[in-house]
Amino acid sequence: MKIAVIGCGYLGAVHAAAMASLGYETVGVDVDEAKVDRLRRGEPPFYEPGLPELLRAGVDAGTLRFTTDISEAAGSDVVFIAVGTPQKAGSDAADLTYVDAAVESLLPHLAAGTLVAGKSTVPVGTAQRLADLVAPTGASLAWNPEFLREGFAVEDTLRPDRLVYGVADGDDSAIASLDAVYASILERGTDRLVVNFATAELVKVSANAFLATKISFINAMAELSETVGADVTQLADAIGLDARIGRRFLNAGLGFGGGCLPKDIRAFQARADELGHGETLGFLREVDQINLRRRDRMVALVEQELERVGGDRVAVLGLAFKPNSDDVRDSPALDVARRLQEGGRVVRAFDPEAKGTALRIVPTLPIVDSVEEAVDGADVIALGTEWQHFRDIDPVRLAELTPARVVIDGRNALDAAAWSAAGFTVLALGRPDTPAA
Ligand code: UGA
Repeated sequence: MKIAVIGCGYLGAVHAAAMASLGYETVGVDVDEAKVDRLRRGEPPFYEPGLPELLRAGVDAGTLRFTTDISEAAGSDVVFIAVGTPQKAGSDAADLTYVDAAVESLLPHLAAGTLVAGKSTVPVGTAQRLADLVAPTGASLAWNPEFLREGFAVEDTLRPDRLVYGVADGDDSAIASLDAVYASILERGTDRLVVNFATAELVKVSANAFLATKISFINAMAELSETVGADVTQLADAIGLDARIGRRFLNAGLGFGGGCLPKDIRAFQARADELGHGETLGFLREVDQINLRRRDRMVALVEQELERVGGDRVAVLGLAFKPNSDDVRDSPALDVARRLQEGGRVVRAFDPEAKGTALRIVPTLPIVDSVEEAVDGADVIALGTEWQHFRDIDPVRLAELTPARVVIDGRNALDAAAWSAAGFTVLALGRPDTPAA
């Protein structure tokens, strides 16, 4: 089977490598020469555990190649569209420029028998519009949303918890093509749902909207907990034991960031507005607001503690939007670090992987190369991303390296008892000892 993947960003690079690892002759296509050059050498343009090995294996075996020439997609059995759909400048809506350009440039290279399978996250209605464009070539179109998480992208692609095929009514050949692509995954008993285009598009955005809502729900409880002296982590444990609720995605803290959840809930809301259903998804505005308020709260807490101890130097641990990633798109941790610096505080930040990506966004941010350097001379320590590296810190040893005696845990990730025993005042979002806002 011959596979092409258009767009070699997060989604596309992982998908192409995964397709090659399943034994298919795969070509990844991207307009960015530099990215393609790196991928040709088997080097991913971003940090993702397991991906370098998978890429190199495909490139070395000759099953995986990368090009900027879209005509090389011709003759593929399935062409996946995996380009980005970022937030439009000056609007909450999704920018479909890249999806439209990918499909337009693909049209001359399509023929009967080829399946175009969209993976990008798109506003409902997009797949039907693109299917109409593709139809005159004789090829057909399906929408096959992707649910991978950064940091687990390889695992999620090769072992997804479900496959969703959005197909046109009666398009059995689209189903057969996707079944052939995913044969080894289906053999393991993975759930596969065949739905129409609109359902497939909505499955993706509603899944992300639900996850964002779950996080903002627990962060709303964190806001209240700070006022009434409750402990949001115990609350999450207690409600999470109800199987109908579940404990996952109930970690209170600085909230969600990244290239997906924030822009997806905004684009979903914008699309609902266009469809005359603004009220239906009005709660997503609250979800967004609760999420952003946690960053304000973290900045205020750090400021307050700096005032209290009479210092202005803060060590920020973590800049990535979540652990095991160098992605800083809409990162709560980077936002907090930037705002503290803009407020005149002396920031020294450290992240195990995100130094380069963070500097591209905030070039003036002082980012050092270790926890030890970050905390040296600090008055307050603020944790923004819950890397295992930070969970593993020995607070007794750290206390010898820094004059700081206050740590503000923005992710409820540190062992508060151990840090307190080592002489630190531990404040965490949504915890009883944290002074009310
Ligand atoms: C998210 C979804 O989880 C994936 O299923 C989806 O495929 C992907 O978006 C996408 O649309 O491409 P991802 O952005 O990699 O994946 O990150 P998540 O693991 O969902 O985390 C998002 C944010 O929520 C992070 O900033 C994380 O720190 C935060 N979070 C997560 C919390 O604040 N609390 C939690 O309990 C869980």
